[in-house]
Amino acid sequence: MKEQLLKKFSEVFGDAEGAKLYFAPGRVNLIGEHTDYNGGHVFPCALTIGTYGVARKRQDQKLRFYSMNFEKLGVLESSVEGLKPEKEADWTNYPKGVMWAFGEKGMKVTNGMDLLLFGNIPNGSGLSSSASVEVLTGFILRDMYGFDVTNQDLALIGQYSENKFNGVNCGIMDQFAIAMGKKDNAIFLDTATMEFEYAPIRLEGAKLVISCSNKKRGLGDSKYNERRSECETALAELQQVVGINTLGDLTEEQFETYKSAIQDPVRVKRARHAVYENQRTIHAVAALKANDIEKFGRLMNESHVSLRDDYEVTGIELDTLVEEAWKVDGVIGSRMTGAGFGGCTVSIVKDEAIDRFKEQVGEAYLKKIGYAADFYVVEIGDGPVLL
Ligand code: GLA
Repeated sequence: MKEQLLKKFSEVFGDAEGAKLYFAPGRVNLIGEHTDYNGGHVFPCALTIGTYGVARKRQDQKLRFYSMNFEKLGVLESSVEGLKPEKEADWTNYPKGVMWAFGEKGMKVTNGMDLLLFGNIPNGSGLSSSASVEVLTGFILRDMYGFDVTNQDLALIGQYSENKFNGVNCGIMDQFAIAMGKKDNAIFLDTATMEFEYAPIRLEGAKLVISCSNKKRGLGDSKYNERRSECETALAELQQVVGINTLGDLTEEQFETYKSAIQDPVRVKRARHAVYENQRTIHAVAALKANDIEKFGRLMNESHVSLRDDYEVTGIELDTLVEEAWKVDGVIGSRMTGAGFGGCTVSIVKDEAIDRFKEQVGEAYLKKIGYAADFYVVEIGDGPVLL
């Protein structure tokens, strides 16, 4: 892999003198969806698939970007001076956004760079290819300039760039999971305090299977921002009657006591999801620690139902994948993962059931949706590295 990527770099940029190879993972969230911007808990993990980047600092201000995933676009050139998002949003807005964000935080990126990327995260799958590129870029910049930032800072800078440069109001989960990833562990993060702990994922006799709907997110970003503001309004309404800072501060019982303060039935559903999903995540991690994987799986299933009925971010593709998965003997739990509106699901499947799972779910999906889903057995990997 290393040799191939360096070779490609020299084909594209003339030579590979002084170029280094880096990697940042993708992520999958096991439970705790749409809680990270509501002061709740999340439980994601980094994957062994992700984004490879070959980078070299330049003496001038020029930026030259090339992605092996979008070869048709060729080399895209710009400058580190006056960075602003391209209107025709292409992938270079992610590395540019991070360079801009470092500058905003007082760490000026003075020189240009040549950057070649290759990602093996399935396109548009909702496994955070964009956050992977953001954390990768931050990791490269730290190595190039010696900026005094931790991996946690890289996550925050990545999120800042996505919010302010790319206009997506995402929470911290994706960048955090990627920057802080640890092999065979998921990360139990309290987004209200940023306290976190690693929890080993020992799935004896079972694996994590990602089912990719191949439905692109489309309008996902605007719907995402809409959900966010629905929750903000519900929070403001609740704050009229109870002293809380976030929806994550409420238990289920407290929510039931105060929910009549929310003036709109749709917002009640949105807030109910945020509150119950947060509590579910706390219970799920406790179950995992107690080695009760069956309970963990049941909570994953409940999470999907809540995302489908209360948060309404699933859609027929994700619902079909999950509802068909539930029918397969040997499936411990299955739910949509990530923002929703397309993308993929995550399931815990017993080893002996994996082939049957792919076959049964795959067939039913094709029949109902009219195009095929893809299946990946994934492994939990580390955060960003210099290779
Ligand atoms: C996207 C966002 C995350 C999180 C999830 C939903 O992946 O980037 O911050 O909100 O959706 O849980």
